[in-house]
Amino acid sequence: MTLLGVESLIYGVDDLDTCTRFYEDFGLEPAAKASDVSRFRLPEGSTVALHRRDDPRLPPPFLDGPGPREVVWGVDSQQSLEALVRDLRRDRPVSIEPDGTVHCRDDSELCIGFRVFERHPPGVHDAPGENNLGQVLRWNRHRKWYERARPKQINHVVFGLPDVDRAVAFYTGRLGFRVTDIMRGFGVFMRCDGRNDHHNLFLMRLPRLVFSHVSFGVETIDELMIGANDMQRRGWTSEVGLGRHRISSLLFYYLACPAGGQAEYSADSDYLNDEWTPRLWDMEFGHYHWLAAPTPNARMARLGVAERLEGPMPKLADTARPAAAGKAPGSQAQTGGHS
Ligand SMILES: [Fe+2]
Repeated sequence: MTLLGVESLIYGVDDLDTCTRFYEDFGLEPAAKASDVSRFRLPEGSTVALHRRDDPRLPPPFLDGPGPREVVWGVDSQQSLEALVRDLRRDRPVSIEPDGTVHCRDDSELCIGFRVFERHPPGVHDAPGENNLGQVLRWNRHRKWYERARPKQINHVVFGLPDVDRAVAFYTGRLGFRVTDIMRGFGVFMRCDGRNDHHNLFLMRLPRLVFSHVSFGVETIDELMIGANDMQRRGWTSEVGLGRHRISSLLFYYLACPAGGQAEYSADSDYLNDEWTPRLWDMEFGHYHWLAAPTPNARMARLGVAERLEGPMPKLADTARPAAAGKAPGSQAQTGGHS
């Protein structure tokens, strides 16, 4: 079985017009619009659907207020989908629609679905990259110019929930996700087995099930900032602004989303394969490499440790100790804060 990432994110919302305007302004391409639903399609083939919260076609809510009602994961083939259904039916109700879409709940009661996904990975964009001081990649030409941001793919979704270890066991053990990094005592990053961007799912430890955000991939920092500038001009707000995570290296720009949680432009992920060794990160150190508008946490973000986890993945609860208390056997540390 191979999972190819989020195939569809389905929201239940209060104010369909405002939510539709948000995602139009954000740069998603409208695919269908009716009085009770707006649908957007990204170039990779994934979709974002906005339904009125009381739409009877939606799965029951698992969150308070507006927000996602289902995360549909893309599967590489019908054969894989059928194998997945056989496995899931061992311990939970599974329903299948006439079009083949599968619905169930994960071990945290989050509604998830599965569908065969003919994904079209974004091609190489016409941007040869950064000119380095000692390596010039662009002679006699400027960088690619963007008129507006057009997100190309869904990078990841992020939820908070009480029992992260149980959730991780489900996604790795039943759905083949790979753990890519762990934020000490707080959360676990995972990627689908059919994707190589750093994470397609991040689960963080919170007292109750909460949706944090969905991340959309754009090509470069230029496309990201064109999108950020346009959204600012249209009155949409960002709490944190521009920055780069140290974990994953992703550039980010989060916007408060009226459909629930935040929507993020992101670019320049690390790409990983099965030779990658996950790391255990001090939280602030891993969270931020830098921020355009420094917060009180900005200094803390330069101090910390990332340990390579050579052995079996530890339980999240067992990683909560401070780094100074000792390292896991066989781990190597990368530290910051010496400048
Ligand atoms: Fe993100």
